[in-house]
Amino acid sequence: MEKIAIASDHAGREVKDDLAEFLKELGYDVIDMGVNGDSSVDYPDYGSPVAERVSDGRIHRAVLLCGTGIGMSILANKYKNVRAALVSDVYSARMAREHNDANILVIGGRIVGKGLARELVKEWLDAKFLGGRHQRSLDKIRVVEEKMNQKGGGYNDVTEKT
Ligand code: RB5
Repeated sequence: MEKIAIASDHAGREVKDDLAEFLKELGYDVIDMGVNGDSSVDYPDYGSPVAERVSDGRIHRAVLLCGTGIGMSILANKYKNVRAALVSDVYSARMAREHNDANILVIGGRIVGKGLARELVKEWLDAKFLGGRHQRSLDKIRVVEEKMNQKGGGYNDVTEKT
């Protein structure tokens, strides 16, 4: 059974709980990494454990939610090997996989209702990465990532042609 991790802050919790149920119905081994309960929490505390696991390969795919999805996507994309895509329409959810091979789908729980969130996740899971020129772009992103890691960051260090 394929593993999929899911986490949110308080603002994404209701949609997160519904998606966890949906993913179980689809036959996934769902690792719900919180939040549970209604109290206000900081989204990095819940997004980081998920992004870390995707980054080091323990989990291949995950869903993150916060109010807008913006904070979780900023956070998750700091992690090496993570390609997190914030989506709120079905076309982008499909492209996130076909063109970007996104390994984390990010959804805004205050933007997207439960029904659409289910559709977004299903579309992303069912789509296939198309490779080819899209792989070439991902390779170029990987070069930037490597350079950032080697040089400790610094925008000017990575602007030469990849
Ligand atoms: C929490 O109020 C909210 O700031 C958070 O869920 C998220 O939208 C941040 O990007």
